[in-house]
Amino acid sequence: MDKFVINGGKRLSGKAEISGAKNASLAIMPACILTSGTSILYNTPELNDVYTMIKLMNFLGAETSFKNHVLSVNTEKIVSQEAPYEYVKKMRASVYVLGPLLSKFGSAKVSLPGGCAWGPRPINLHIEGLKKMGAEIDLAEGYIIAKTKKLTGAKINFDVSSVGATANILMAAVLAKGTTIINNAAMEPEIANLAAFLIKMGAKINGLNCSTLEIEGIDELRPAEIETIPDRIEAGTLLIAAAITKGEITLKNISPIFIQSTLTKLEDSGCKIEIVNGGICLNGVNNSIQPSNATTAIYPGFPTDMQAQWTAYMALANGTSTVTDTIYSDRFKHVPELVRLGANITVTDNVAVIKGVKKLLGAKVMSTDLRASASLVLAGLAAQGRTEVLRVYHLDRGYQKIEEKLKTLGADIERVEGKEY
Ligand code: EPU
Repeated sequence: MDKFVINGGKRLSGKAEISGAKNASLAIMPACILTSGTSILYNTPELNDVYTMIKLMNFLGAETSFKNHVLSVNTEKIVSQEAPYEYVKKMRASVYVLGPLLSKFGSAKVSLPGGCAWGPRPINLHIEGLKKMGAEIDLAEGYIIAKTKKLTGAKINFDVSSVGATANILMAAVLAKGTTIINNAAMEPEIANLAAFLIKMGAKINGLNCSTLEIEGIDELRPAEIETIPDRIEAGTLLIAAAITKGEITLKNISPIFIQSTLTKLEDSGCKIEIVNGGICLNGVNNSIQPSNATTAIYPGFPTDMQAQWTAYMALANGTSTVTDTIYSDRFKHVPELVRLGANITVTDNVAVIKGVKKLLGAKVMSTDLRASASLVLAGLAAQGRTEVLRVYHLDRGYQKIEEKLKTLGADIERVEGKEY
């Protein structure tokens, strides 16, 4: 278990390139199951979650090769329709194979994902949606066991907008008999990226980027190629890294539209944002960090995946702010660790009240989940002295060599390999 050692207080400056989006790749890879042949996925990020999905795809019988961010997935020899516990316990997104396996092969056995580090994360909408499409689903011995002669199109109204349920139902619907309508579908850009891939495979989908998707099922899809979109959460995290160290950076390859809510909040906090030649420049030099409340919401609102990072930033604001997570009410495991660095934060229900402090002081802190780890790295970059962020394997699930990117921007950060952290 590696750790990061950070000597804080260095202003970040320079340019950074954003890697492919984890949450787009994790949906696009299982979509390859829907066809037989080789699909090519460009700009796939080198992340542990991607490697876990590759292993699961290999377990199912897919052949893969992955080099220079180009992942090819050959699904001609899929032999298994089972996603065992050993994969799902590592990564909840393994449940994305459910819809494609069921739709293509008429059966799927997928381990039930339990809760995650910060609380419950149900998948009832995935299951109810597939049942509406005619699947017979039993839950037994910790598995979802799904069968169907042929899925049929249905009208599915989600009570809650869910990224995962939208992805699963969308992938199931493209090969179903008849038309499926998904109301209150997730509009996250990663869903649009998945839908664009399915359309390249021949799928008939209307309503891209809208909250209603209409899918006319067809008999067969062909292999296709797709470019994975840049990771908006990595982009937001790097922008906060610059803002919290009062630095100045340019992100090269991400559309401002994807991260508008984060850019707006950064402007509210006093940073100057400029869009030049397709790049996003953030200038936080001499900024006194104004407090700015954040409430998470579905896209295009402020993402829950940026909540921990924003909390770390606001810990150094010139006043009091609140952060409310409406998507995951328990997602505050980073708070006690930020407090160890000197932050003044209290959490009641799903609201963190952050009283800005003048400085944070380096300490040893423990990563508990992906975005919590990112927030600790950000706090460490701004803290005085030495911060050790332990268990960065959480971070490696979703950020491609973030320490290298931060180093290029001037951070004093080292990965220390070890077993005991
Ligand atoms: N929900 C239900 N029932 C369901 C599914 C979801 O009630 O069947 C609720 C959840 O409890 C939550 C809300 O709906 O309150 C939204 O959850 P969603 O299903 O959208 O989350 P997800 O698909 O499990 C994806 C990302 C998460 C990200 C959320 C929200 C992937 C692989 N994961 O999860 O990413 O936080 O959407 O945007 O795409 C991360 O990258 O750190 C991460 C956790």
